[in-house]
Amino acid sequence: MSDRRTRYPGPIAEAKIHPHTLVEQGFAEDAALAAMLDRYPAEHFDINLYDYDDEGQVSLRTGARGRLSGAELLEAIKQGRLWVNLREVETGWPELWAAAMADFRAIQATYPGMRAVKNAGQLILSSPKARVPYHFDAAGVVLFHLRGRKRLFIYPGDEQHLSEKNMEQVVTRQTTEELPYRLAFENDAQVMDLEPGGALTWPLYAPHRVENLDRFCVSLSMDFQTWPSRFRKGALFTNAVIRSRGGSPRFTDGMSTPELAARWAASLALKKVGAMKSRIAHFERDFEPEVGVEDGAGALRS
Ligand SMILES: [Fe+2]
Repeated sequence: MSDRRTRYPGPIAEAKIHPHTLVEQGFAEDAALAAMLDRYPAEHFDINLYDYDDEGQVSLRTGARGRLSGAELLEAIKQGRLWVNLREVETGWPELWAAAMADFRAIQATYPGMRAVKNAGQLILSSPKARVPYHFDAAGVVLFHLRGRKRLFIYPGDEQHLSEKNMEQVVTRQTTEELPYRLAFENDAQVMDLEPGGALTWPLYAPHRVENLDRFCVSLSMDFQTWPSRFRKGALFTNAVIRSRGGSPRFTDGMSTPELAARWAASLALKKVGAMKSRIAHFERDFEPEVGVEDGAGALRS
C-alpha cells in the first residue's frame, strides 16, 4: 500500500503547501478589502457564526449583509466571531480571480496529469477566533491564504471519516456540507499551519476543519473539477437516487472509469427530471454584523 491518505484516485496524494503571489499584489490590504466589500453583491454573501459544544458538535447562526459600509464590516469581522464568505469571486472581484488563476496554473503544473476543467472561488474573511466545522468539499480545493494565520486539520478520506452515504447526501443537497464528526477523529488528523503566501491543497474529498490562530484571516478558497472528479461527483448523485429508491449502490472507489462515466451521464438525466430535490431550507437570518457588540452580531434591523 502507498501512504495515500485517501481511497480516491487523483494526482494529489497528500496535503501540501505551495507558494502564491496574491499577498504581494496587494489583495489583502484593508483599503482593497473595504472597497471590495462596498461593491460586492449582497446576494453573494454568506455570514456565519459557529458555536461548538464540549463534544465538538457545531451549531450555526446566519447573518444578513446588513447596512454597514465596507470599512465598518471589516471592523466588525476583526472584532467579532464571524465567518464571511463571498461567493463567485470570478465575477465579484475579477482582478483577484485572474491573479489567482495564474497562480493555480503554476500549482497545477506540479501535478502530472492534473487538468482542471472548471474553477470557482470564494473569498473568506473571518474573525480571529472563528472555526469552520468538519466537512468535505465535493471538488478539488486550493486554499490561498492571504492574511492572518490558520490551522488546518485534514483527515483520511476513508469510509470511517467520510462515508459515501453521507457524501451522497451532500452532493444531492439533502444536508449542508457537514459530515458526522467525533472527537476521536482528532487522533487521525494531519495538522498544517497556513501563513500568508501559502496555498494548501489536499487529496480529493479529504475531510477537514479550520481554526483561526487569533488573527483576522483572509483566504481565497478555489474549488476545481477535473473530468475524473466530475465523473465521481455524478456517480455519487446517481448512487443517492438509487439509495433513495431502496437500492444499495456499490462504493464509487470500486468502479472503473467507464462505470463512473456512465453514472455521471445518468446523473445529468436524473437532475433534469428533478430526481432529488434539495432539502436545504432557506434560512431565516439571525443577525446582522455590527461593530462594538458581542461576536460582531447585532440585531436584525431590516
Ligand atoms: Fe472546505
